[in-house]
Amino acid sequence: MTIKMKQSTPPGPLVVRYGLFDPHLYKLQHDPIGFAREIFSEYGSYTYVRFAMNRIYFINRPELIREILTTKMKSFRRLPKQMNALRKIEGDGLVVSEGAIWKRHRPVVQGIFHHNHFAHHGEVITQITQKRLERWQPNVTFDLCEEMNQLALLITAKLVFDIDLEKEAEQLRVAVHQFRDAMQAEVTNPFYWFEFGKRRRQRQAINEINELLWKLIRAHKADAVPKSDMLGMIITAARNLPADVPFTDDEIRDEVSTLFVAGHDTTSAALAWFWYCLASNPDVEKKVIQEIDEKLEGRLPTYADLPKLKYLELVVKESMRMYPAASFLFGRQAIEPVELGEFTLPKNAWVIMSPYIVHHDPSVYPEPEKFDPERFTAERIGEIPPYAYLPFGGGSRVCIGNSMAMMEIILLGAIVLQKYRIEFDPSQTSIELEVEVVLRPKGGLKMKAVPR
Ligand code: HEM
Repeated sequence: MTIKMKQSTPPGPLVVRYGLFDPHLYKLQHDPIGFAREIFSEYGSYTYVRFAMNRIYFINRPELIREILTTKMKSFRRLPKQMNALRKIEGDGLVVSEGAIWKRHRPVVQGIFHHNHFAHHGEVITQITQKRLERWQPNVTFDLCEEMNQLALLITAKLVFDIDLEKEAEQLRVAVHQFRDAMQAEVTNPFYWFEFGKRRRQRQAINEINELLWKLIRAHKADAVPKSDMLGMIITAARNLPADVPFTDDEIRDEVSTLFVAGHDTTSAALAWFWYCLASNPDVEKKVIQEIDEKLEGRLPTYADLPKLKYLELVVKESMRMYPAASFLFGRQAIEPVELGEFTLPKNAWVIMSPYIVHHDPSVYPEPEKFDPERFTAERIGEIPPYAYLPFGGGSRVCIGNSMAMMEIILLGAIVLQKYRIEFDPSQTSIELEVEVVLRPKGGLKMKAVPR
């Protein structure tokens, strides 16, 4: 009789002790989705890789993700390597902070997303989208990713700071993009220190963004009556806090910077994928257009119309399943040994969870490559296990802007579709996935707005 020894680590491809030049490490850095897919299909949803000193657990089983994000969340912190890079721009904002600071900040920021404010947020989205559409040229090929990025940036700038960034938009968009690019390299490239050009551009980007943020905060604070934008709401909330726990200007800066960075890039990627999915599924597109025409009868949509645009909502949800903008959640690090499923994670272990992998697991979503919005109907939603749909993460650190992002995609989608269908340019024959913090189609998407 053979006695099976209990393994101390989950299965995995390799142990690379001194592996800075290892091809697997290269793949993880340059094609993280490809790497995660490979180890998932070979070793399953709970796997282990060791790179030099780092013990990395890829955990893509919904019930274990639930434990990490809820019942055992106190045993983890967000990965310091990623957070140190983000801290340069977001300071101690919600994404980066932990413990007491996070607990104090979250309710202050949460107030912005109270449903009472959604009608106003919706108006901003509608107004900016409509204005931007005036510039669109029918039947002319354009980069849809770039356009969604600019549009989402304009909307976020208006919502957060009540400014029409048309002039500064390009400068700011480039600054955030350069920061993201450098951050990706900083987190994944062990030789980042030698990337002098990237590091210089990152410093410049941070300076530019900071300069603009402080200018806006000073102007807002000088107003006798605080504005109704998100920065104004945070200033008001801060003034109403008890004097013995003041919310400082630095804390206000950190939170608006976080909202700005976290809000626009993810939403723009989600929008790009929404259009990609719609253009790839003409039958679905037809049904969406029919719903919009019937329910809106040519009127511009408002927040109050959201419950009527049910099918559109299903389509947005399914596009975020197929292509979650946050294809990986932020990494976590165990701050103590943690029992998780059949293994014990040692102190300092890294945990990588990928909504992309979970959303494409055939044991969770039958026919995962099929675009099937009906998965999210009331009749079928029960088939999706808890913590298996994670475009916005989960637990108490779930995305604070999730409902806003959903509203933005639905309203913007409806407004565009009242005028145009978005078609692929014939040269856009295939796509490749790229993770530059968020998941995007590599090289953009060449598409055309065709009048209906
Ligand atoms: C489609 C668009 C969006 C996607 C896919 C998205 C995704 C996510 C995800 C996955 C997380 C959790 C990360 C983790 O636990 O590791 C998160 C957190 C966060 N998101 Fe979003 N997000 C979107 C839009 C927004 C918007 C519009 C805002 C604000 C204007 C925002 C602000 C935040 C903040 C502040 C956090 C940190 C929350 C905390 O830790 O307390 N996001 N987001």
